[in-house]
Amino acid sequence: MRKTSIAASLALLTVLSVSVSSCMSNRKKGMMKPPFGSPKDVAQANDLWSRISGYRTWQSPAGMSGFQKGRSPHGKYLKYYLNSIAARDPLAPGAIVVKENYMGKSDSMLGPVTAMEKIPGYDPADGDWFWVKFNPRGEVMKNPMGMSLAGKVAKGMKKGCIACHANAGGGDFLFVNDE
Ligand code: HEC
Repeated sequence: MRKTSIAASLALLTVLSVSVSSCMSNRKKGMMKPPFGSPKDVAQANDLWSRISGYRTWQSPAGMSGFQKGRSPHGKYLKYYLNSIAARDPLAPGAIVVKENYMGKSDSMLGPVTAMEKIPGYDPADGDWFWVKFNPRGEVMKNPMGMSLAGKVAKGMKKGCIACHANAGGGDFLFVNDE
């Protein structure tokens, strides 16, 4: 009788500890999975690159065609482009804002190309923007940890696209429409 109850409680303990640890590892996995840079995010970014391939023919924001002076962390000089939706309203569904980052005031000094696309329902808490940073050849760039900079980039973190763009006027995560 005593033996069986010890065996039974041991069995119960094992079941409990296994379920607790699997629960914890699931939770850990959930916490570890970053909100950006997955193969799906990269595929979405590649699709975006193909849709923005003609961006140099797009309009620029009023009074902002050609080189503009940039602030940290983007290029020293910037060029802005708006798709036809963003040209009417940069916050409308489907709006795409492309920004070329130049290391100097010369077309030969093009660095990364950053883009934001407004996708209703994609990320309501942070303005519904899809974020991506391409190199000049249209390949998705990575951060020093090897994570691809596509998707809800650095969501929930202290630094990065979303955290910094949260400082844009009007709470819309967009600087270009601020005065
Ligand atoms: C530390 C702050 C900061 C971080 C981090 C940052 N940005 Fe920006 N971003 C700015 C500022 C400021 C501007 C306005 C242009 C300028 O003055 O450089 C801007 C402009 C832009 C624009 C043009 C639209 C707009 O808001 O005016 C795009 C597109 C953009 N950033 C994309 C990104 C992406 C993608 C990332 C992450 C990979 C990123 N940014 C990270 C500060 C930041």
